[in-house]
Amino acid sequence: MIRVLFVCLGNICRSPLAEAIFNSKVKQAGMQAQFKCDSAGTSDFHIGELPDERTINCAAKYQLPLHHRGRQVNRTDFRDFEYILAMDDNNLRNLNNLKVRYGFADKEIFLMRDFVDATQGMSVPDPYYGGEEGFEEIYQILDEALDSFLANVKARHQLYA
Ligand code: 4NP
Repeated sequence: MIRVLFVCLGNICRSPLAEAIFNSKVKQAGMQAQFKCDSAGTSDFHIGELPDERTINCAAKYQLPLHHRGRQVNRTDFRDFEYILAMDDNNLRNLNNLKVRYGFADKEIFLMRDFVDATQGMSVPDPYYGGEEGFEEIYQILDEALDSFLANVKARHQLYA
């Protein structure tokens, strides 16, 4: 079982949407038995909350089931998840500090867009203070990034549906 954790700041916009999109792609590929994914935030701002209303609307538009409550990244996540993917530089920096503090200094943390050659090092922009259109933008970014991530992981682990 390959465990994947998507991480943003609040865990109500980008990372729960990434989780929903990835679950849908895994299902479409018939690989539900091989993957388990979850999402979390670096902050404690929205623990226990449903995703942002705009995230819910975006998921509904693309018919993606969304079952998540906000939670904060914790120590055991570094042990339990093989792939931890940060949405932006700020999340990446926080995760790289946390992993050292929690005794997982060697753990590699990835940036979500690093799996698309043309977008390496780029962020999935924080849509929180913008409008509804920002959610369409992050959907498109995540859709592309997650296709590449899934293809990369399938190749790396020699997974065939
Ligand atoms: P997310 O977006 O990190 O994609 O979930 C945000 C959600 C909440 C806040 C910032 C970003 N906030 O400041 O409360």
